[in-house]
Amino acid sequence: MQDKNLIPIISQKDLEGKVKYLGKKISADYKGKNPILVGILKGSFIFLADLVRYLTIPHEVDFISVGSYGSSTQASGVVRLIKDLSVNIEGRNVVIIEDIVDTGLTLNYIRDNLLSRKPKSVSILTLLEKKQRRPQRIPIKYVGFKIPSDFVVGYGLDYDEKYRNLPYIAKLKF
Ligand code: IMP
Ligand code: MG
Repeated sequence: MQDKNLIPIISQKDLEGKVKYLGKKISADYKGKNPILVGILKGSFIFLADLVRYLTIPHEVDFISVGSYGSSTQASGVVRLIKDLSVNIEGRNVVIIEDIVDTGLTLNYIRDNLLSRKPKSVSILTLLEKKQRRPQRIPIKYVGFKIPSDFVVGYGLDYDEKYRNLPYIAKLKF
């Protein structure tokens, strides 16, 4: 896709290498724990699909979808549940799979919501983390890449539902 408003910041090759590394890491850390990987829709769908192909341990996959009432590039902090999990996570080891953490408001809501269901553990894996100071401090166990606070698209991340199919991550110029 040729688009003069896109400035590539993470290549397809670098994404592949990182996803492979994270898959190995999760496989080692969760050996014998049969984790449930909970992808946050829609942004994490490509990342999670690639990640599980590098897992060498038994695991399950589920999805949750939340929406925020903000505009498409700015989180408002008001979160609503659009699609819930389809499995019971009580007593289970949960790994939340997120595409990007910006303010952390979305993840904070999801983490609290999942913790109230009495899982054995909840950890967070995000492909991207923006370097800005977050109003909420949430523990993020695994981070793929730390990036500047620009708006980015590709590899599942969208702007107004566009660009999710880009095989790399790009900064979007407005
Ligand atoms: P937060 O609640 O501010 O951490 O925002 C998290 C959600 O906003 C992510 O799950 C994304 O869906 C979306 N988001 C935040 N920053 C970006 C971006 O740069 N590009 C695309 N989506 C983003
Ligand atoms: Mg989004």
